[in-house]
Amino acid sequence: MSQPYVIDKMISAKAIDARIEELAREIRATFGTEEKLVVVGLLRGSFVFIADLVRELEDINVEVDFIEASSYGDKMESSREVRILSDLRGEISGRNVLLVEDIVDTGHTLFQVVKYLKGRSPKRLETIALLDKPSRREVEIKATWTGFEIPDEFVVGYGIDYAQRNRNLPYIGKVRFT
Ligand code: IMP
Ligand code: MG
Repeated sequence: MSQPYVIDKMISAKAIDARIEELAREIRATFGTEEKLVVVGLLRGSFVFIADLVRELEDINVEVDFIEASSYGDKMESSREVRILSDLRGEISGRNVLLVEDIVDTGHTLFQVVKYLKGRSPKRLETIALLDKPSRREVEIKATWTGFEIPDEFVVGYGIDYAQRNRNLPYIGKVRFT
């Protein structure tokens, strides 16, 4: 049994929505609307973000793919060892790729997955993270685009879980143990 906790609202659904519109404009300006774009979601935390993001890119010929990397399990601490659990289905060689992450914490996951994807020779690879906790960083990496920088708090909602719970909250909240 996990310790009881409450969730304090941190970023509203409306604020997330507005930020995604801005981010989509920047993505469009970077990649253009002429070429195809492979949007790669890092499972599972990015599934809500990617769903909203691609719908803001409706004028781009987008292909959606997913990759799963090992994560925290049920713990709140990064394992620091990142393994690819489930690989892409499609080809990214010679193509424009946008990797979508829910949250960059220590940075190990983004670092390793970027390294892995670069090994597949994409034409151009950029990254986007909804959330960033810069104070927690252990490896030097930053997503091309970040939705919101947040302090060192454990957050849930909008696809992000605590021990597989709370992914379905429409907003981002922080976990507070009671
Ligand atoms: P990193 O490898 O330490 O950067 O961790 C990245 C992954 O850890 C994210 O994709 C999340 O799945 C998970 N994570 C990091 N911080 C949080 C949090 O506050 N709540 C839930 N999951 C988190
Ligand atoms: Mg994750």
